[in-house]
Amino acid sequence: MKEIKKVIVTGGAGFIGSHAVVELVQAGYEPVIVDNFENSFPIIVDGIQQILGDPVKIYKVDCRDSKGLQNVFDKEKNIYGVIHFAANKAVGESVADPLKYYDNNLQSLVTLLRVMKANNVLRLVFSSSCTVYGSPDSLPVNESLERKRPASPYGNTKRVSEELIEDFVASYPEFQAISLRYFNPIGAHRTSLIGELPIGVPNNLVPFITQTAAGLRNELTVFGKDYDTEDGTCIRDYIHVVDLAKAHVKALDAFLNVDFKGKNEIFNLGTGKGNSVLEVIKTFEKISGLKLKYRLGDRRPGDVPKIYGEVTKSSNILKWKSELTLEDSMRDAWNWQQYLGKINFKP
Ligand code: UD1
Repeated sequence: MKEIKKVIVTGGAGFIGSHAVVELVQAGYEPVIVDNFENSFPIIVDGIQQILGDPVKIYKVDCRDSKGLQNVFDKEKNIYGVIHFAANKAVGESVADPLKYYDNNLQSLVTLLRVMKANNVLRLVFSSSCTVYGSPDSLPVNESLERKRPASPYGNTKRVSEELIEDFVASYPEFQAISLRYFNPIGAHRTSLIGELPIGVPNNLVPFITQTAAGLRNELTVFGKDYDTEDGTCIRDYIHVVDLAKAHVKALDAFLNVDFKGKNEIFNLGTGKGNSVLEVIKTFEKISGLKLKYRLGDRRPGDVPKIYGEVTKSSNILKWKSELTLEDSMRDAWNWQQYLGKINFKP
């Protein structure tokens, strides 16, 4: 019988983490969620369990709490590796309160690495972001480009975290790490039992679209209409969250087949294709049959005009490629929004 590998998933009740937990179980891993529930909700855990038809193990622990983490590692023996999703991710909030971001995002990582080292758990998958490319000079961006200083403190915590992991594995080469640079994760699980739960007014495009369509927001403002792109609006690489979740399974699998010892190997996780804000809106209108209320407004400070990623390295080494389309993403995001309306959920 195949040995079931236990994986600690920090932030496993969050948007990407919850989808990864589902994919991990379905691929034969045993995820153990560690989450402080500051930015996540019990209905997501219920949703995970409904999809799986089985309970999942959960510890309510903040990753800055080394005793709390040690307690998890004491109780859970034979840990194969850790996927570290837990972090704050709101760009605007990070500008308003940078210390919150440096404190939480960096302290969590340092504490986690200390505890992993003390317990001889040697494999880490880290959630990074394409924000470390800054405003790129050429497209698509690939992993060998130098990191640029991101426009926000949030983004900078991702850049510093990648470097921190690099320094760590260089000093302790028995460790191996994979940093996954996400482009723009959107969508929700096909079952509508888990999805994104922004607190308050959403910063990100797709939840803003679905909340506007649901009548929770008056209208969407498209940030910028005069960019040097075909329709004047920004271009991003939107990736379905389930595709993204599957890449984490592939990353854990890759530790078995490829020697990453002493390395922090970096992979882009995107579709390799860019779409404009107006294309996203049109796709939403097509799948929902609704007209979205929007207006073309000013640029948002800190936005890069265009970014999408080269995905050859992920495809060659992780054996992973995105499969779902922008239509799939918008359909699943819209179904999720409607489900939240039906259950009258208010974060
Ligand atoms: C941002 C962060 C990224 C982070 C991601 C997930 C930056 C530069 N990017 O991505 O690092 O991982 O969030 O949290 O820090 N838009 C509108 N109207 C809206 C909202 C968005 O037109 O109301 C446009 C934006 O201008 C952008 C696109 O939609 O062109 C996507 O925006 P958003 O969903 O916020 O993601 P990013 O800013 O690309």
